[in-house]
Amino acid sequence: MSMVSNALKAASLALAAVFLAAGPMPVPAQAQQFVPKDENPEDFPAGSGRDDTFYACTACHGFKLVAQQGMNRRQWEESIRLMVDKHGMPELPAKEMRVVLDYLEATYPPRAQEPGRGWQNPFLTR
Ligand code: HEC
Repeated sequence: MSMVSNALKAASLALAAVFLAAGPMPVPAQAQQFVPKDENPEDFPAGSGRDDTFYACTACHGFKLVAQQGMNRRQWEESIRLMVDKHGMPELPAKEMRVVLDYLEATYPPRAQEPGRGWQNPFLTR
């Protein structure tokens, strides 16, 4: 062992001790994920099934992402199917699926039915 490598070894041991003493690293703010607490069911139009729908969807993303869509029942159903097939959403039991679709269909119908509002790209308006 040369003196240089002994000195390097001592230095790296000292460095390791500093890192160990520092404890767990704080998580940088930009790495923090969406937390459902950012939104409440009450932020969205009242209606039967609203809370169930809110909690079924906000396990993964904001409800705003849902609320800015306008679709018919079949399209909503396909959208949820996509969540299950592509994104690993647990399948909703048939009864819950009906409740969720009732709310989405009634609250967020296709935009064409609302005069003056064209189709909006959900990824640009988010
Ligand atoms: C298991 C996770 C998960 C759940 C639960 C979930 N989604 Fe998603 N969803 C995603 C991911 C991932 C994306 C795409 C990434 C993004 O835009 O955040 C997405 C995107 C979307 C989009 C944007 C357009 C699209 O097709 O990509 C819509 C609409 C949508 N979800 C609807 C819903 C609805 C309605 C529910 C509740 C019934 C729901 N999601 C529940 C994971 C989920």
